[in-house]
Amino acid sequence: MQTVRIGAVEEFEDRGKRVVTIGDAEIGIFRLGDEFHAWHNTCPHQGGPVCQGRLYALVQENLDEATKQSHGRLYDEDKLNIVCPWHGLEFDIRTGQHPGTSELALERATVQVDGGEVYVLL
Ligand code: FES
Repeated sequence: MQTVRIGAVEEFEDRGKRVVTIGDAEIGIFRLGDEFHAWHNTCPHQGGPVCQGRLYALVQENLDEATKQSHGRLYDEDKLNIVCPWHGLEFDIRTGQHPGTSELALERATVQVDGGEVYVLL
């Protein structure tokens, strides 16, 4: 196994990312507050560069329970999806899972934070 230093924690903005090439692998490293997540940059749909996509908060309909009338949209900032730039499929940035099917998921890479430095283990 190879341990590769990616950079200092403070070099990553909250909700920021860095996509790096390590040997034959391309890895996207994402910071969400104190959490770091790393994914292989290959979409399970058709191989697009999913880590180059944008992060969006989960959109929910703000329904009145009694009338079922919509009062617009709500954005759940705790549930962030990355949207693949090729065909728009979304994946939970924390779990890598597509929200609609368990058959599509990102491939996780191991990321560690040690002494204020971010590392990927491949
Ligand atoms: S390749 Fe990612 S959505 Fe199609």
